[in-house]
Amino acid sequence: MGKLNMAAVFLMLMFVSISEALVVDISKHGARQNADIAQALTEAFKEACASTTESKILIPEGTYKLSAVKLLGPCKAPIEIQVQATLIASTEKITEPCWVSFNHIDNLTVSGGGVFDGQGPRVWGKCGKTKYCKSLPIVCFVQSFLLKLEFCNLCFNFIKGGLVQGVTSKDSRQFHVNVIGCTDLHFVRFTISAPHESINTDGIHIGRSTGIKVLDSNIKTGDDCVSLGDGSQQITIERVTCGPGHGFSIGSLGKYQDEAPVIGVTIRNCTLTNTTNGVRIKTWPASHEGVASDMHFEDIIMNHVENPVLIDQVYCPWNQCNTKLPSKVKISKVTFKNIRGTSSTPVAVKLSCSPGHPCQSVELSNIDLTYTGKEAPAAISQCGHVQPKVSGRMNPKACTAAVAP
Ligand SMILES: *[C@@H]1O[C@H](CO)[C@@H](O)[C@H](O)[C@H]1NC(C)=O
Ligand SMILES: *[C@@H]1O[C@H](CO)[C@@H](O)[C@H](O)[C@H]1NC(C)=O
Ligand SMILES: *[C@@H]1O[C@H](CO)[C@@H](O)[C@H](O)[C@H]1NC(C)=O
Repeated sequence: MGKLNMAAVFLMLMFVSISEALVVDISKHGARQNADIAQALTEAFKEACASTTESKILIPEGTYKLSAVKLLGPCKAPIEIQVQATLIASTEKITEPCWVSFNHIDNLTVSGGGVFDGQGPRVWGKCGKTKYCKSLPIVCFVQSFLLKLEFCNLCFNFIKGGLVQGVTSKDSRQFHVNVIGCTDLHFVRFTISAPHESINTDGIHIGRSTGIKVLDSNIKTGDDCVSLGDGSQQITIERVTCGPGHGFSIGSLGKYQDEAPVIGVTIRNCTLTNTTNGVRIKTWPASHEGVASDMHFEDIIMNHVENPVLIDQVYCPWNQCNTKLPSKVKISKVTFKNIRGTSSTPVAVKLSCSPGHPCQSVELSNIDLTYTGKEAPAAISQCGHVQPKVSGRMNPKACTAAVAP
């Protein structure tokens, strides 16, 4: 075969493989703007999911209503859902724990620049900071009670290999995103937006998952920006801006029996602005056993953060527990490195470890945090049941005070 023929065959093969990718426009399944596209999306997904070659579902630009939808794999080949549209959640009572859920899919991509608008403001505000509120369509148990029932904009359940890129989750009723049982799922240039006064609107909650990354993303919300529950392993968070919100959080841990260990977390090159916490590890007192190890926080800028660096092993909101009994969660191998900026309270660094299981191998290196309050005493650093290894610049000096009882 001559060179030209070879090239022709090659081009033909390329053409064949490109043309083989199936594209399913949801309009084909009857989707129209401003109407509910749940059924069209479900049908388009079924068609794409059955394809033995790569497929793409297209939700073109425009505004569509979408009631709760559950997309269920396994699929035969990689599948992409390109959302160019703004999708508006219905505010009806929903019996599913999610608005849009992706389940048991391998090699899933969600892309397209679109917006998932959960219509939170239409259901928020009716529920105070109490335990239960009837007017929310699902439940409105406040944070950490019945975490497993939290209602979410987007749920990723048992996804293996995934990319969520360049889309926005806006004004979720409760959590924006829940990730459970997933491996190698990456969020890239992902945007989360909700006002700081919205209750329990965690950004991305990850649990029982391995190899999850959140990169180059921007999270503004009313609760944790990213929270890592039990069984979070090999998690990387890089170049993420957070605030308003409650910051990055590992935990809470120890509330339930048989929690899986948290191992391998790196949070790097992130900026937090006007958040209640910066980087935090929290465990319940009087708790079940647990392990959290190999957690690294590096190159982090804090702007006006209430608790920039915090280990809290007596985490007990609403005084629901006996704080006299120590946490049984073992924390070890933690580094806080190159953390600088401002603290909006005098206690810039607080390491409050368990008297039953003191923290092991904690390192502080190059910390430079100043207190911004008007009366401006110097920032302080409190320690309890931990002896951190210290290096580099240290402002405030490490362990200037004991943790207040
Ligand atoms: C997903 O991707 C992996 C790695 O490329 C591949 O081995 C696997 O067959 C793919 N599965 C599907 C359903 O696309
Ligand atoms: C992370 O931040 C450090 C210090 O600010 C900088 O030197 C480095 O280039 C950054 N790395 C990435 C991958 O952004
Ligand atoms: C942070 O809070 C300060 C003071 O409350 C406010 O002036 C500033 O605009 C806030 N910054 C952001 C990025 O929200």
